[in-house]
Amino acid sequence: MKSICLLTSGGDASGMNAAIRAATRTALKMGMRVLGSLNGYRGLCHDNIIELDRDAVRNILHRGGSIIYSTRCDDFMTVEGRARALDVCRKHDIDGLVLIGGDGTMRGAKIFMDEGGPPSVGLPGTIDNDIEGIDYTIGFDTAVNTAIRAIDQVRDTAETMERIFFIETMGRASGAIALAAGIAGGANIVVVPEIPTDIKTIAKKIESDRKSGSRSLLVIVSEGDTAGGAYEIAEKVKEISGIEYRVTVLGHTQRGGCPTAVDRINATVLGVCAVEDLIEGRYGSLIGMKNGNVTRVPFDKAVTSHSSLPEVIVKHADTMVT
Ligand code: F6P
Repeated sequence: MKSICLLTSGGDASGMNAAIRAATRTALKMGMRVLGSLNGYRGLCHDNIIELDRDAVRNILHRGGSIIYSTRCDDFMTVEGRARALDVCRKHDIDGLVLIGGDGTMRGAKIFMDEGGPPSVGLPGTIDNDIEGIDYTIGFDTAVNTAIRAIDQVRDTAETMERIFFIETMGRASGAIALAAGIAGGANIVVVPEIPTDIKTIAKKIESDRKSGSRSLLVIVSEGDTAGGAYEIAEKVKEISGIEYRVTVLGHTQRGGCPTAVDRINATVLGVCAVEDLIEGRYGSLIGMKNGNVTRVPFDKAVTSHSSLPEVIVKHADTMVT
């Protein structure tokens, strides 16, 4: 394997740069040429390929986003788009691909390899932590820590003004960020898509927590909850209890910023593994982590998980969320 190409695809996540840096440095050390496809799969479809040398990956470990950018690429979903991408791979003598993204990125990787694309490996880059077979995705820890900081800040004003806040976290159909941030932020209630939401129960809990002396009340809502986002749920609770509320939507703040130590370290480990796997002829899989160890999930099994919340946390969620 003489030449590899890296790309980041889908929603960006802090730590992607750490993975790019590690993969690039490892490959360069092995005497390989390293390329980057700009804007994810779009760079492959439109021949937007750059060289990644030692200088290109200097001082990026601590930076959020992706130095090679990312998009959700419609072109790559078409047979014609992928045929163009194949030509581009041939033109640049790309022998292997490292694809960093979520389940959609892995789906694309599988199709491309089946259609004759170069040997590929994937790394899980998404804040949602919702990929089957692994329990960590690059960017999740940073997103959770950003949410915790915001929750702490909202807590100050809620406590002072004696208010109820509904705070919305990201996560698409996964409640992983909401649950982790809710527990660490001492929320009163956490609402996630994986657990059925009962508005009456929320209203009752708010009332009883108020009665027991809580001045500040925080309800963390995962954006994909079946009962709606934070605004909708707050309004439904108000209809029952008449409470006044404020809403804070954390949105894309969770996607950017300086990656945490956890994201930097894990992304670095995974970046190194990606290149090693390609060199050793192990491809066709997402390389991720489970229980702190590196594990591999074939592309077609690396689908969205709807049960990625740690069992022990779900089991004791009621006790932990007070
Ligand atoms: O998948 C990552 C994610 O940040 C989700 O949590 C969120 O639902 C979605 O992307 C937002 O996507 P976009 O940035 O395209 O609005």
